[in-house]
Amino acid sequence: YGDASQKIDYVFKVVLIGDSAVGKSQILARFARNEFILDSKATIGVEFQTRTLVIQHKSVKAQIWDTAGQERYRAVTSAYYRGAVGAMLVYDITKRQSFDHIPRWLEELRNHADKNIVIILIGNKTDLEDQRAVPTEDANEFAQKEGLFFLETSALEATNVETAFSTVLTEIF
Ligand code: GTP
Ligand code: MG
Repeated sequence: YGDASQKIDYVFKVVLIGDSAVGKSQILARFARNEFILDSKATIGVEFQTRTLVIQHKSVKAQIWDTAGQERYRAVTSAYYRGAVGAMLVYDITKRQSFDHIPRWLEELRNHADKNIVIILIGNKTDLEDQRAVPTEDANEFAQKEGLFFLETSALEATNVETAFSTVLTEIF
């Protein structure tokens, strides 16, 4: 999980967005510390964590920003997106509404972020397959139409979280 003594070749800022409770903070905790927080609380304001990893023989410091899905707790939008080269647009596969709101998040992203930002759509909580409300195919179709990468993850079971970040970071690279 990163060697603090190594020299950093690149710093990449990546933002997490999506409705409240979809699992943004847990995805970040899984990626940055390989943890799942048992009494996770809604994020207030903005937080970030970093992890340094090696991509194509260069050390890349990923600086991952996380804000509240709840409007009243959100960070200042323009500051949040400033300098971001990657974005993870997260919904919960068991909450149809969180998927239906994705176009709004995408619009905010496109209004505030750099036009070359790399975007991945993430359907989280695949460990709750029996409660699935969003078919994989619907999300896949949407992602293709909008030109986004797409993956389903489980922060709880650590499924595809690493792959989601490496997809974005490698593409930025
Ligand atoms: P806000 O900070 O309010 O925007 O929410 P968030 O998107 O950061 O959600 P958070 O990571 O706090 O997770 C919300 C709830 O979903 C918590 O109870 C988590 O434990 C749970 N959760 C997150 N990821 C998973 C997952 O992969 N599987 C399951 N079963 N639960 C998850
Ligand atoms: Mg959060």
